[in-house]
Amino acid sequence: MDNDTLAINGGSKTITVFEGGGPPKIGHEEFLEMADTWGYSAETIAEIRRVIEKPNAGGGPSFIHYGNPRSKVTRMERQVAELFNVRHVMGVSSGTAALHTAYVAADIGCGDEVLVPGYTFMATAMAVVVARGVPVWCEIDESMTLDPNDVEKKITPRTKAIAPVHMNGYICNMDAIMEVAQRHNLMVIEDCAQACGARFHGKRVGTIGHLGCFSISSYKTTGGGEAGLVATDDDALFARVQGWAEAGGLWRPDRYAKSRWPGELFCGVNYRMSELEGTIALVQTQKMDAQLTRWRANKRRILESLPVYHELTPQAVHDIDGEMGHGIGFFPETAKEAERVVAALQAEGVGCGTRGANPGRDWHYYNYMEPILDKLSATSDGCPWSCPNAAEAAAIEYSPDMCPRTIDLSNRHVRVNVDQWWTEHDCKQVAAALTKVFDAFYTRNPSGNRWLDVIAKKN
Ligand SMILES: Cc1ncc(COP(=O)(O)O)c(C=O)c1O
Repeated sequence: MDNDTLAINGGSKTITVFEGGGPPKIGHEEFLEMADTWGYSAETIAEIRRVIEKPNAGGGPSFIHYGNPRSKVTRMERQVAELFNVRHVMGVSSGTAALHTAYVAADIGCGDEVLVPGYTFMATAMAVVVARGVPVWCEIDESMTLDPNDVEKKITPRTKAIAPVHMNGYICNMDAIMEVAQRHNLMVIEDCAQACGARFHGKRVGTIGHLGCFSISSYKTTGGGEAGLVATDDDALFARVQGWAEAGGLWRPDRYAKSRWPGELFCGVNYRMSELEGTIALVQTQKMDAQLTRWRANKRRILESLPVYHELTPQAVHDIDGEMGHGIGFFPETAKEAERVVAALQAEGVGCGTRGANPGRDWHYYNYMEPILDKLSATSDGCPWSCPNAAEAAAIEYSPDMCPRTIDLSNRHVRVNVDQWWTEHDCKQVAAALTKVFDAFYTRNPSGNRWLDVIAKKN
């Protein structure tokens, strides 16, 4: 056959190879840039450069999550599912994305009400609005988490879900919340952004309600950049989670196939977790339990020698063995008193803080969350607030003083930080400093009880 015969007809192929070719798209430069971010010394970076610039250093990572058998995101999702004893986990781009995804999966839509605590990061309530629902703030109780009694009072015919938040590592009373939810046929979406790995009565938080949301951003105890997780035991809910967060259904084995069942496909967004985040989360979720064990042990060490006082109320703890354990909370009688005791403790070298009598603006307290209080929307149509389908729910009257107990408790609450790396001696010092200040200001309860006895008895 001559050279003119088309290759498709058996002739020789015109192009068999290209001479040009460059390095992998992601090479050692990006890796070195990351090493720089982590603060390695110049000598270490030079050493890393020497190794990874070798010609046989490898083809470079792909950083592609889907369909890649080596995907770190997939490995991390499986690992967390196993660690948390839950059927499904999906890695997403942030805790806010996790909440938005979970609300959509739970079918929160136009005018549906979701009960949220007045003390949480604004994302918990904001993501309800983004899903076109209406957040209804509820009081917290002395555990600094959602008060199940107030939840029950705020239920209306439009209520669709409860969003308990395990705030600051403190764990909600999930027995009481699930009981209310079951009686009123409500979905429960746990916000575990600040409690990754914690448990309530043996079960991991985020696996007790219908859906669990986690932030694993750099501000959290597990996580290094911007990322989140959604967990659920429910296959149908998980299909909706994936449908929403993977661009409407791209995750499917045949990604462009038509709906395999009614309701499978809908318009979604891309909230996928990146492989870089997956890589960090894969390692950090392995470190998580050891970290929690260290915190809890140190909190116990301090509390077991700390006397109780008439004028101080220890923060209620719903599961002393399950919570994160990186803070000890208590309530003096007034916010002014909280300031006084914090100043004295800080002078002794104790890391602690309080909102106090003149608290600053902070989007962790509902009364500063104006985008919600003022019913602001991202688009000029005013949705959901001005949507006729949401009219009844949107008529809610928000005001900065609608949850007075939350404000009172928040302003009086004192948090003493606990470090996971403290030695026994360090814990003794902290207990001694607390006792010194408390003895100077307050009256010991003559029962001789220790702080731990009081908290553990209530668990
Ligand atoms: C209680 C709570 N919920 C949700 C979020 C949102 O998480 P992310 O910052 O990863 O979007 C945060 C983050 O601070 C949080 O503390």
